[in-house]
Amino acid sequence: MPKVIVSPSILSSDFANLGRDIRMIEKAGADWVHIDVMDGHFVPNISIGIPVVKSIRKVTKLPFDVHLMIENPKKYIKAFADAGADIITFHFEAVERKDVVAIADYIKSLGLKAGISIKPKTNVEEIIEYIGYFDLILIMTVEPGFGGQQFISECAQKISILRQFADEKLIIQVDGGINSQTARVCTRLGANSLVAGNYIFNAENIEDAIKSLR
Ligand code: DX5
Ligand code: ZN
Repeated sequence: MPKVIVSPSILSSDFANLGRDIRMIEKAGADWVHIDVMDGHFVPNISIGIPVVKSIRKVTKLPFDVHLMIENPKKYIKAFADAGADIITFHFEAVERKDVVAIADYIKSLGLKAGISIKPKTNVEEIIEYIGYFDLILIMTVEPGFGGQQFISECAQKISILRQFADEKLIIQVDGGINSQTARVCTRLGANSLVAGNYIFNAENIEDAIKSLR
């Protein structure tokens, strides 16, 4: 694994040419494919679902990093795993605390990496006790729901707090408003995976854009 795992968010791709765009990021050096799943309830937008994940599974061998921004994530985990997910991240705010560990174990029992995410207004202290159960923690640096928003810099300090409690095996991922400048802020604080949508898909040279995040 590279030091910084770059996971382009296909929310910013051209959905009329989704297969082409995924091949393009693979060729340009992407490590993972970040897939934003939204249900119109947990977030005010609707995006990609299970059949799309299943069909794009055929175009790339890159790991699928599925970010569930949905209520009742447990209900859909198996379906996303069967469709080809490699990493499944759900939101802390979408579940009850008593279910967090069981959901992590369930994702891992399917042979996948388990991730948990927090929105900008959730304190990182809330999830410290669960770190050991997860492969990945996703810090949102925008309100989830849309691509192309501005990085909320106050959220970045959560990365260093988390890093104090985690060994280097834990993947600390950041999502929202990532570009070459904000990427540097996050990696310096201890992030080792970056999601970027607009910055990568709107770049003139995608390969350079991906390199500039590492
Ligand atoms: C937002 C999504 C992000 C989004 C990032 O809810 O979770 O993955 O696609 O887009 P940018 O990088 O454009 O902020
Ligand atoms: Zn995302």
